[in-house]
Amino acid sequence: MMTFMASLREFIALLMVSTIVVSCVDGRFVVEKSSISVLSPYSLRSKHDSAIGNFGVPDYGGSMVGSVVYPSKGSSGCEPFEGDKPFKPRSSRPNILLLDRGECYFALKVWNGQQAGAAAVLVADNIDEPLITMDSPEANIDSDGYIEKIGIPSALIDRSFSESLKKALKDSEDVVVRLDWRESMPHPDERVEYEFWTNSNDECGTRCDEQMNFVKTFKGHAQILEKGGYTQFTPHYITWYCPQAFILSSQCKSQCINHGRYCAPDPEQDFGEGYQGKDVVFENLRQLCVHRVANESKRSWVWWDFVTDFHIRCSMKKKRYSKECAEDVMKSLDLPIEEIKRCMGDPEADKENQVLKTEQELQVGQGSRGDITILPTLVINNIQYRGKLARAAVLKAICAGFKETTDPPICLSGDLETNECLERNGGCWQDSKSNITACKDTYRGRVCECPMVNGVKYRGDGYTSCEA
Ligand SMILES: *[C@@H]1O[C@H](CO)[C@@H](O)[C@H](O)[C@H]1NC(C)=O
Ligand SMILES: *[C@@H]1O[C@H](CO)[C@@H](O)[C@H](O)[C@H]1NC(C)=O
Repeated sequence: MMTFMASLREFIALLMVSTIVVSCVDGRFVVEKSSISVLSPYSLRSKHDSAIGNFGVPDYGGSMVGSVVYPSKGSSGCEPFEGDKPFKPRSSRPNILLLDRGECYFALKVWNGQQAGAAAVLVADNIDEPLITMDSPEANIDSDGYIEKIGIPSALIDRSFSESLKKALKDSEDVVVRLDWRESMPHPDERVEYEFWTNSNDECGTRCDEQMNFVKTFKGHAQILEKGGYTQFTPHYITWYCPQAFILSSQCKSQCINHGRYCAPDPEQDFGEGYQGKDVVFENLRQLCVHRVANESKRSWVWWDFVTDFHIRCSMKKKRYSKECAEDVMKSLDLPIEEIKRCMGDPEADKENQVLKTEQELQVGQGSRGDITILPTLVINNIQYRGKLARAAVLKAICAGFKETTDPPICLSGDLETNECLERNGGCWQDSKSNITACKDTYRGRVCECPMVNGVKYRGDGYTSCEA
């Protein structure tokens, strides 16, 4: 047993080495940024970069103007703030809470800030260094599930900039800043390309559950976007390769297909029991081929149905994770099984599989995108999405990827509304007798646009006049 465990550990270590080596050669981790401009006091007017936190909801495509507040007590934000929402705004301007780095997880600071009424949290770095991404801690420390409940944006700012903000606040100045995510998402044209790096394994705990919940809840949006030709979505799956010296080992034989070329870790981390890594790689390959084949017949969105149906009907938990079960799902979705089998090739063959080879090559970072090293990863217009993997947050980010005025209707729907129309009708035109209004909530903020009512188009500037 000892030697088996030792060699298992060694093998896993080797798998890690092979991916790390790949990332060190030409890949890197890209810190995604938003900008922050000081609007007042005048002496501090300037624009800075900030690093978007990898949790909560970054306001992709939008911006926020607020007053900076720095708590006199508990400035690390590691304890809940006393009182009833002490940072709830007293004027119409939201409060942006500045907290110090250190002593606890970034996400906990942001959660405490949100609970205390802050509209956004800035974390001040405590050393001079290039900006880093504030990541969320492993899900297993999050017993209260607060990470999922973070719904505000957050960003890390560098030490010297934060010192100047603190100094101005100490001198009792009113510090007003604009947080801006409009350039955080490239939006060059009327189509958004996005990729989701995932895994068909459903036994990896919270990470797997998180991925699947996202796929299930986002499916409807994804299919509308894809059917309308607004997006080009591509699913991806990470695989590893077996180091040459281990190809004939029992570990590689159970975790890999095509003679050690494509591997996945054993779902139960026990080679003797249950499903093996090679079952996972093979199912990942099937899901890739489902997408390829469906895409060729212009039904790319069927991937979303396949993956969710497979998860419900063929889970590992129910011991139904099998080729036969997958084929039943394909049949029910009217997918061409023979063509998909052809795409998958022979897992026993000692040769490359084009589909998986391409996946391995794409794992390495390119252009503005860093390496894919963790799952799940969502890449939109070739930049890595930061924020939580949740339906509305991701839709907002995708919507920010369209060139202005080319957003599909789903981006202008109530789903993403900012509720700015509720107050003074957003300053837009409104007919005083009927309730017809030109105010429309969108993820970019409100727009004033003359409406269409019962087939009658209203025309005008949307602010002071609209006529039928
Ligand atoms: C899907 O089809 C489009 C053309 O319709 C093509 O450009 C794209 O590369 C295809 N994607 C994949 C993953 O095969
Ligand atoms: C306008 O809204 C009010 C309350 O929201 C409602 O009572 C009234 O019937 C509406 N009028 C029309 C013409 O829809």
